[in-house]
Amino acid sequence: MDIVYGGDRITYKVIGGVFDLYFFSGSSPELVLEQYTELIGRPAPMPYWSFGFHQCRWGYKNVSDLEGVVDNYAKAGIPLEVMWTDIDYMDAYKDFTLDPINFPLDKMISFVDALHKNGQKYVLILDPGISVNKTDATYVRGLKADVYIKRNEVNYLGEVWPGPVYYPDFLNPRSQAFWGGEIKLFRDLLSFDGLWLDMNELSNFITSPPNPSSNLDNPPYKINNGEVQQSINYRTVPATSLHFGNITEYNAHNLYGLLESKVTNKALVDITGKRPFILSRSTFVSSGKYASHWTGDNAATWNDLAYSIPSILNSGIFGIPMVGADICGFGGNTTEELCRRWIQLGAFYPFARDHSEKNSIRQELYIWDSVASSARKVLGLRYSLLPYFYTLMYEAHTKGTPIARPLFFSFPEDVTTYKINSQFLVGKGVLVSPVLQSGATTVNAYFPKGSWFDLFNVSNSVNAESGKYVTLDAPSDHINVHVGEGNILALQGEAMTTDAARKTAFQLVVVISSSRDSYGQVYLDDGEALDIAGENDQWTLVSFYGTLHNSSVIVTSKVTNGIFALDQRWIIDNIIFLGIPKYQRFNGMDLAGNELNIVKGTDSMRTAVVKSESDSSSQFLNVQVSKLSLLIGEEFKLEIEIK
Ligand code: GLC
Repeated sequence: MDIVYGGDRITYKVIGGVFDLYFFSGSSPELVLEQYTELIGRPAPMPYWSFGFHQCRWGYKNVSDLEGVVDNYAKAGIPLEVMWTDIDYMDAYKDFTLDPINFPLDKMISFVDALHKNGQKYVLILDPGISVNKTDATYVRGLKADVYIKRNEVNYLGEVWPGPVYYPDFLNPRSQAFWGGEIKLFRDLLSFDGLWLDMNELSNFITSPPNPSSNLDNPPYKINNGEVQQSINYRTVPATSLHFGNITEYNAHNLYGLLESKVTNKALVDITGKRPFILSRSTFVSSGKYASHWTGDNAATWNDLAYSIPSILNSGIFGIPMVGADICGFGGNTTEELCRRWIQLGAFYPFARDHSEKNSIRQELYIWDSVASSARKVLGLRYSLLPYFYTLMYEAHTKGTPIARPLFFSFPEDVTTYKINSQFLVGKGVLVSPVLQSGATTVNAYFPKGSWFDLFNVSNSVNAESGKYVTLDAPSDHINVHVGEGNILALQGEAMTTDAARKTAFQLVVVISSSRDSYGQVYLDDGEALDIAGENDQWTLVSFYGTLHNSSVIVTSKVTNGIFALDQRWIIDNIIFLGIPKYQRFNGMDLAGNELNIVKGTDSMRTAVVKSESDSSSQFLNVQVSKLSLLIGEEFKLEIEIK
């Protein structure tokens, strides 16, 4: 189909099939997503580790190359959670094989074991095309199971990385046993943690000639297939090919990546009993139920850096919230400046992976000192925000709300937000305003109504009485990330792995609002159980509420299933209140040096130290309560009187 968007209308030019239109009436963006994902399937839960930083490249030469990259990340003090390998690991690009010279099994096993010992993970690529090669056991098993896509009564012969290939037909119910069986055999050899499904559009290096006996290969209306108008069969499986039940490729084409994700998801669930991590290039309606997504082969250009924002926001709205673009750019040579700006932005993508093409220069984050130091800073903030990202994943899974959201999700009444695609929100209230132009050291960022606090330095704030553009400093090592009034964030400490970060104490950031109560949630479980908020009660959900009342600030918590968090001994050792109006409420008082008292609380608050600080230029007072040891699994109320 061609879809033409003309500003005030959308035109579908379809050459077949049944067209069902659904309307989701909302009334808020969240409710539209809730209704839409109720129909198509709620996004898959993602493992905790998948929110760490990922490194990939097409063109890693051998196991020592991989080891070197992992070592260099450690030496540079940049957190690396997941190491990836592209098609390079395969023997002649055959799925489920290892190159015996450069990626031999014994070395691969030790490499993956070492990653696991260090709390790190490993993800491998798989392409759908199975090499037509009589010595290849996977190929032979596929033939025996008779699972390949057919054309003219025989298996359809395409061509991808390994040369001639047959494609498994994921509409065929036998493909589950075949594909799942191959994954199991391979995983018995090498315990990878996730799978990357590429080339599943379905990609083909050849364009087969049309079948004269049918007009499906040559329909009268030529869809706009590629930059120049190409045949419908251009570099894909031809439309007259047949799937199980005689379903033509003409009708099933768009479903391939979705069905492959679904079959792969079930296979990994059956094999590991854990929450799978799957990354798919091709997606369709419902793909979010099975897989995460990256935006495909972008270029290392400023334009594609900027374009990554609307791409990830769209994916979230399509019900695929775990999404990212190749950080530093895939094709062409990146530059130090572009890569630095890209990690500053990419650190706030839901899925954060650096990936590049083999003919381009290396772009791991430690290559340039300035990129490395920026990476430490921004990934440091990302890792403190891990409980927030993870709770947003929980929210996405239960309600469909995207992790990365356009500004209008939180500010639907502010029409200026509708067109903004150079900034985005993580969750309800963390505003990311990146630099997207070469040479720029300021950013003109829109702030919807409210007070906003810089998460790198909370004494910097922006107060927008109504929505306004503000020019912010954005020196080369800095990205602007603000938390808005009315939000409560539960953060943890920075660390080199998500596992280590999970062992640190929590800090609450309570951003007081003059017009409403503040609110935030944290969802906690083991990070990999299949069941989210399941019946086994191996999880805890905490809601936090913050209020300003007369001359007190109060924060309370409400806990569901506290036992799990209590067992983990998670504590909150620090609460910071932002946005207490200095002059409005406490009329003209000079608060410096004034006493702050915890007037109500539990025993564990007795040792707490309360400190206030305020810049003379700021209209806000920040109050920090430290040395607490509040159990996160237990409800509490903390009230501070400001005299
Ligand atoms: C495709 C993928 C890319 C990958 C390459 C080699 O172009 O989109 O990410 O590196 O194939 O497998």
